[in-house]
Amino acid sequence: MTVLAAILAGVGWADVASAETVSLRELAQSRGIAFGSAVSAASLAGDASYARTLGSEFGVVTPEDAMKWAVLRPARDTFRWGDADAIVDAAVANGQGVRGHTLVWHSSLPAWLTGGSFTTTELRDVLKEHVQTTVRRYAGRVKFWDVANEVLNNDGSPRAGFWLERLGEEYIADVFRWAHEADPAAVLYLNEYGAETHGPKADALYALVRSLKEQGVPIHGVGLQAHLTGSSRPDQLPALLRRFTGLDVDVAVTELDVRIPVPVTPAGLASQAEVYRQVTAACLAVARCVSITVWGFTDRRSWIGATYPGWGAATLFDDDLATKPAYRSVADVLTRTDPNAPVGHWPLDDPAGTVAADVSGNGHDATVRGAKADGRVPHVTAFAGDGATTEASTGAPVLNTDGSFTVSAWVSMYSTGVPGVVASQDGETRSAFYLMYQKSTGRWEFTVPSADGTEVTWLTARSASAPVLKRWTHLTGVYEAPTRQLRLYVDGVPDGTRDGVTAWRSTKPFRIGRSLSGGRFDGAISDVRAWNRALPAGEVTGISDRTVAAWGFDNAAIDSSPFGRGTSLNSSGATYDSNALKLDGTGCAEGYGPALRTDRSWTITARVNLAAKGAARTVISQSGTVRDAFYLQYHQSYDRWAVIVPSADATGSDWQQVLSTAPPALNTWTTLSAVYDAQAATLALHVDGVRQGDPLPAVKSWPSTGRIHIGCSGTGGRFNGLIDDVKAYVPAA
Ligand code: G3I
Repeated sequence: MTVLAAILAGVGWADVASAETVSLRELAQSRGIAFGSAVSAASLAGDASYARTLGSEFGVVTPEDAMKWAVLRPARDTFRWGDADAIVDAAVANGQGVRGHTLVWHSSLPAWLTGGSFTTTELRDVLKEHVQTTVRRYAGRVKFWDVANEVLNNDGSPRAGFWLERLGEEYIADVFRWAHEADPAAVLYLNEYGAETHGPKADALYALVRSLKEQGVPIHGVGLQAHLTGSSRPDQLPALLRRFTGLDVDVAVTELDVRIPVPVTPAGLASQAEVYRQVTAACLAVARCVSITVWGFTDRRSWIGATYPGWGAATLFDDDLATKPAYRSVADVLTRTDPNAPVGHWPLDDPAGTVAADVSGNGHDATVRGAKADGRVPHVTAFAGDGATTEASTGAPVLNTDGSFTVSAWVSMYSTGVPGVVASQDGETRSAFYLMYQKSTGRWEFTVPSADGTEVTWLTARSASAPVLKRWTHLTGVYEAPTRQLRLYVDGVPDGTRDGVTAWRSTKPFRIGRSLSGGRFDGAISDVRAWNRALPAGEVTGISDRTVAAWGFDNAAIDSSPFGRGTSLNSSGATYDSNALKLDGTGCAEGYGPALRTDRSWTITARVNLAAKGAARTVISQSGTVRDAFYLQYHQSYDRWAVIVPSADATGSDWQQVLSTAPPALNTWTTLSAVYDAQAATLALHVDGVRQGDPLPAVKSWPSTGRIHIGCSGTGGRFNGLIDDVKAYVPAA
């Protein structure tokens, strides 16, 4: 067993004799991310031990200065490639990735440029030429680019600087477009510092990325630099990173360092180690966080000393290239896999569609044969089984099926006409288990055959409930080896057991959407997970939670649901107060896109405190083209709370609405909940837990794809007062 294998197999860090022989590069790779460092061209060329450590410890490098204008472009007509080439060549020879840095920045510009006299057109040409010459030269070798760097001030306004002053805000979109033209395969990032905590800069960066995406600008990632100190508390980082991934971009930590007062003390080093630990854990916790890059790896060579007098020692290795506590805390986080985590986890929402990524970090990516279906929320896709030819399979087994194990999935079945297997794992002749719909009984089943042979007894936990077609349903199958029991849960609720089961070890691939012999599922499958342990009932409840959006407004417009969609405040009329959203009748919070599939069942709850009537006051809505698909609001014509679903996205549509029985009291916290049941076609309103009259029958709905709004609708109707704890669930409980 290699040291790496020993660590990954769960042998404790301390038990491995020469643990530090496993590099951060390997550890990070085993967790599905890259670990990188900035590199100084001078040190790489002149310092052999620096070059050795860089080569062995890091999987990706960023030229610290070599690709900046001041270095690369000594004169209008001269490119000086030497330093950049040396870094890129060494990286390629070492099997390392390269992150180019940076194509446009207000700093480190040569005097001939900043002092030159150029017309706007000439300057655009110079910039375009620079971007395209540089990106083309390294196409195929530099995969990631920090295209634009530090374009915002700390208050969120555009940073005044050479490019903005001379070319106007458009330069940012232009540079992305030019870089994309020069190398369509390059992954293009916007890079920023000081956006690692909630605040105006993080909000402005979010709004900028959203606007670039809306304009169709080829931006693929957001880099948060993370120049931190030993007293930084980056505990908001996972939520911030997820907020960006809600805009369909990757994220990366691009320039991590953690400065501490010098001379160093054990306490200083310990505080630094904790900050490095938190940042590493944050990236691991976000599926689309692809890399962590440190801004220099040794205190021997770091920009900090010259910039922050009294501070230093910001990196992972000391002056003598000995590892510091921070190194060990990073290695520890990368090593420590949560023993409770799934051993396989396939969201099945991969954009490419031919590979279903295993986000558990265990490398069990599945090859997909099948199409895309709509997922549980807009803009999230699922695997589409056709009942005949479709499947996804891993290359190797995932579960130890002779011990306790659990498998779960969200499914939406299209037809009961064929038996359909949601998940299984191959033996030689049979699958070792089948989580499935069984046509002959018309029920969900979790089945283990008595042996891996042709003559078997089928041991089945069968649901009492029958499947509802085209309704997202959560299935969990648990095999508990010590009690020899199979358990089936439907929508998180126990729905069938079978005792006296002895499961056997299977050693072939894990399959989604079929079994070894076929049994292809006809319907959509999403978020399949597998554990080598029996999940207790409480955890099954947790994984079957139907929350698809949740805003707590604790000084941030962050959706804390698994779908983590971005939301931002759209004006100064929207602020935070006492951990709630405070609106003065002019502002609101808006999402980048929709949060709910409005033609399906949904439930929305919110706590509201109305400060002024006099106009329509919308709590939450989701836009279509002409109408919003629903409005939960104060209705000024009736002086009532109302939930309204227009019958169509058209003027002249019917206002299908339910009103509260009494007028709202001002300045009073009230809990509203609106429930649309697509199966029953009913709409209901609850105020402080009390249903307001009978549900409205025969309600028509339609799918909206516009933005979710909190505190306004697509056309106005702005709320005045406080809104808190807004949550959406699907399907209706
Ligand atoms: O190479 C010359 C050397 O020949 C000369 O003797 C010396 C005298 O000052 O200067 C050397 O160049 C310096 C270079 O670092 C290499 O040490 C430049 O003056 C100095 O400006 C440059 O600083 C860099 C700084 O960006 C400005 O470009 C730092 O190394 C680099 O770490 C820092 O990196 C930035 C990122 O690009 C963007 N985010 C923030 C980060 C930290 O400021």
